[in-house]
Amino acid sequence: MQSVVIILSAGMGTRMQSDLPKVLHNVACEPLLIHSMRTASQIDAHKTIVVTGHGAKDVAKVATTFDPSAEIVNQYEQFGTAHAVDQTRNALLNFDGEVFILYGDTPFIEPSTLLRMSKERNDGAKVVVLGFNTKRKNSYGRLIISSDGSLEEIVEYKDANTDQRKISFCNSGVICTDSKLLFNLIGEVENNNANNEYYLTDIVKLAKNKNLKCAAVECAENEAMGINSKVELANAETYFQTRKRIEMMLNGVTLIAPETVWFAADTVVGRDTIIEQNVIFGPEATVESHALIKSFSHIEGAHISKGAIVGPFARLRPGAELANNSKVGNFCEVKKSQVGEGAKINHLSYIGDTKIGDNANIGAGTITCNYDGVSKHFTEIGESAFIGSNNSLVAPVRVGDKAMTASGSVITKDVPNGDLGIARAPQDNKKGFAVKFFKRLKAIKLANKKDL
Ligand code: UD1
Ligand code: CA
Repeated sequence: MQSVVIILSAGMGTRMQSDLPKVLHNVACEPLLIHSMRTASQIDAHKTIVVTGHGAKDVAKVATTFDPSAEIVNQYEQFGTAHAVDQTRNALLNFDGEVFILYGDTPFIEPSTLLRMSKERNDGAKVVVLGFNTKRKNSYGRLIISSDGSLEEIVEYKDANTDQRKISFCNSGVICTDSKLLFNLIGEVENNNANNEYYLTDIVKLAKNKNLKCAAVECAENEAMGINSKVELANAETYFQTRKRIEMMLNGVTLIAPETVWFAADTVVGRDTIIEQNVIFGPEATVESHALIKSFSHIEGAHISKGAIVGPFARLRPGAELANNSKVGNFCEVKKSQVGEGAKINHLSYIGDTKIGDNANIGAGTITCNYDGVSKHFTEIGESAFIGSNNSLVAPVRVGDKAMTASGSVITKDVPNGDLGIARAPQDNKKGFAVKFFKRLKAIKLANKKDL
């Protein structure tokens, strides 16, 4: 059967205390909405509809960048979750099949959980709701289960009585039902409740009134975590990172102090790579197997090949590509540059917009001067070239294969293959000068003291 996923993302997110729409806050360097959209993409849905409202333009842009086929429906005013779903009525007019309703602020729902809900529907339930048990004090809606085990009703916390509030089985918000039934039921939802909102949760009671069976499927509390404040956002980050670290280790990545390593949602690391303490990954980083990432390195938009060694204290920025067995050492920054196989940038360097050939050696303190204040320029360093310490390579410039540069040089002209480039003032030694010089300075100091 065909299915569609509706992701509700119109709410203001008042409790976030932020100018940014709630669903655009990041967990693991990725907006909350994208986490929900990824879940949707993994169940082979026929269509994903994102309901936008607050910050609609920005939310739509993020959604369609991730999935260009996603449909955006705007809810101009937010009158509640049922009202939000109702906005998709026209978009789904010709659709007859299964609908999953997800929330843009509930990022950790597993595709396998949605499939379990779908199965429950195939087994006869008309509306299937995802619930979770929790011992913590909270304001989620409560799931009322009848004696035959079916779902009787969802009561919003604000509308619940004292006994109902004691129920530990809570509403995650996720629903699986049939499209035609969904819009029929939503048509009957009213807003006579504590919030004067049209609650999607009311469709359970309405279905029961028609003698239609409803069911609750349970998932883990963390999976259903909804994010409403920055405290919950930080908790979500912790939960995500814990899971990702475990996943990495189970896939063969060695983490010496897992709790100190931070991954982005899309970080890929190969087996037998060792990641030392306090390493941070930004978006779009990939690491092959058998690499070593030493402490305090920051890696973003970079690719690290097999056997490469990075850090400690290295910064790899977008477009850094390290070939097999290359090295980028302490206090080195590499941006939009290819570092050839076995090449070394070991100490205190900035390398930007550069191609470094295989087995080249970049001396300590080398800077590629890639920016003239207006445009970026390219540096090429040939295979097995040797760049002396403390060089400035003023781009555009090329140092040839097997060429070398003298330390302290400011290289402004190409150095042909195999040549030595030397660009610094020649040295001149003054016989006995240092001794005479200091003797004079001391004599002056003494004379000044006597004058006082
Ligand atoms: C909702 C549920 C509650 C459940 C909880 C789980 C209802 C009435 N209540 O409450 O039972 O325990 O989620 O997290 O459904 N939204 C819109 N348009 C609107 C209103 C909301 O798109 O008019 C979106 C929000 O952006 C958000 C989601 O729907 O992504 C949930 O809205 P929110 O206001 O956070 O609902 P809760 O009070 O958390
Ligand atoms: Ca919520």
